[in-house]
Amino acid sequence: MKGIILAGGNGTRLHPLTSALSKQLLPVYDKPMLYYPLSMLMLAGIREILVISDPVSLPSFERLLGDGEQWGLGFSYAEQQKPEGLAQAFLIGETFLAGEPACLILGDNIFFGHGLPEVMRRAAELKKGGRIFAYRVSNPSRYGVVTLDDTGRPLNLEEKPENPQSDFAVPGIYFYDATAVERAKSLKPSGRGELEITDLNRLYLERGELSVEVLGRGIAWLDAGTPVSLMQAASFVQTVQERQGLMISCPEEIAFRMGMIDRAALAALAGGMGANDYRDYLLRIVSDNS
Ligand code: G1P
Repeated sequence: MKGIILAGGNGTRLHPLTSALSKQLLPVYDKPMLYYPLSMLMLAGIREILVISDPVSLPSFERLLGDGEQWGLGFSYAEQQKPEGLAQAFLIGETFLAGEPACLILGDNIFFGHGLPEVMRRAAELKKGGRIFAYRVSNPSRYGVVTLDDTGRPLNLEEKPENPQSDFAVPGIYFYDATAVERAKSLKPSGRGELEITDLNRLYLERGELSVEVLGRGIAWLDAGTPVSLMQAASFVQTVQERQGLMISCPEEIAFRMGMIDRAALAALAGGMGANDYRDYLLRIVSDNS
């Protein structure tokens, strides 16, 4: 399975923060926002990743991430000329995917919680159909919303409904089989002129090929798309990290713990950094033999 991170959009709800900087490069406490969704793909065991962003921001992502070799990954980059919908990622990513199943994650979605790596790894084994997630929120109208039957099967999907039929929002991480590209090609722009990911999910749903996994209340799914939610996300990360002495979504650590790089490579990454807490954290992992 290959991964796509979509780091597009105008970030209008964060202006003027995003007037000169892509939203997904903004800090969430001590890391660029993109590190959080990237870490999810890594935890799923995905190593080939396409980063999609607008033509102006893309070079900044390339500067931040490079070719990925430092973390045992392979990054590719592609431009989204205009923000014309999340499902457009599959048209832009067609060559990159080369007929493989894919996980699409949005560059502003932050997840944290016990058991999440296992959920990701299981989903990444998907060969047929689509797998999305459901997460109870207090403001479902802001999101794609899924209604489930008593057995947890999806009945209905709606994008930002005024009167949502359930409290289950669909987080911005989606797993699809190799047919996603062809299905995305058949989509028509919605009323707001976008190729909606909810419409792509509906194509799977209509054929009985969509499975939904509920992410329980022990998992945090955070949004960082407004000044308040960005600050809340940063404060959440700071609180948990300080309490545990462990970082949330540190790509270097995940690469090491998942065997994508060895101890010497981790030491070299730490050595290449300026003296700061992030480097000290990596050095602690290098010397930890437990
Ligand atoms: C997008 C999707 C929506 C999904 C959300 C998750 O909305 O359209 O279905 O629930 O991402 O973050 P956006 O927040 O980009 O408006």
